[in-house]
Amino acid sequence: MRLVLLGPPGAGKGTQAELIARHFQIPHISTGDMLRAARQQGTPLGLEAAQYMEAGDLVPDSIVIGIVDERLAQSDCQRGFLLDGYPRTVDQAVALEHAVLTAVISLEVPEEELIRRLSARRICRQCEKAWHLVFNPPPQEGTCQCGGQLYQRSDDSEETVRARLEVYAAQTSPLKEWYAQRGLLLSIDGNQGIDKVFADILVALGESK
Ligand code: AP5
Ligand code: MG
Ligand code: ZN
Repeated sequence: MRLVLLGPPGAGKGTQAELIARHFQIPHISTGDMLRAARQQGTPLGLEAAQYMEAGDLVPDSIVIGIVDERLAQSDCQRGFLLDGYPRTVDQAVALEHAVLTAVISLEVPEEELIRRLSARRICRQCEKAWHLVFNPPPQEGTCQCGGQLYQRSDDSEETVRARLEVYAAQTSPLKEWYAQRGLLLSIDGNQGIDKVFADILVALGESK
């Protein structure tokens, strides 16, 4: 399985990616998580990327394409992979053409719901799992199931969320048409409970749970 998860900020890409990657035993590759790790480590690349991420803009293709190509060349990707949040531009999609994709899963969620999800999201410092204070609360306040501390992402402020939604509409949503023309697009109603969305993804991929 060589899969891509497409969808606006807050659509549930990371949440579904965790379930899909476990089901198919394939690596979950999130460019957002990789860029945040680089920023955390303070590498030159991470610091450059941080400026764009704070503003809700896309990190330049020249940086992101290199990171993903390097990751996909690692041996654990031989059996397949799940890309979360990549590609986000047509140039990134062109750069990915060397990987013959199985499917592109597009999570469809209305904008008001995206804002509700992002405004109360909390992330684990240790394992990056996303919780939601109301829709998917952590087992204990402020603490992940793995024991890690929870924090709020700096780009989840209302203003930056608006910017990210605009960037998605302008630069990433055209990829739906791009992949539809190639017969790869699976549109999934992401405005349902987490388990129902996952079940619909498996059915769309021709799998039974
Ligand atoms: P990235 O980290 O990928 O952020 P994003 O695309 O904005 O998406 P999110 O991670 O915010 O949302 P998600 O869809 O994963 O939702 P989640 O599962 O957490 O990228 C961050 C930044 O990095 C970008 O802005 C850009 O600067 C840069 N970047 C990354 N990739 C790049 C690229 N390819 N090119 C250039 N720049 C790049 O769920 C959200 C919340 O909802 C959670 O609280 C969750 O618990 C809850 N939830 C999930 N599913 C449900 C459900 N079904 N019902 C109710 N609640 C739910
Ligand atoms: Mg995510
Ligand atoms: Zn954790």
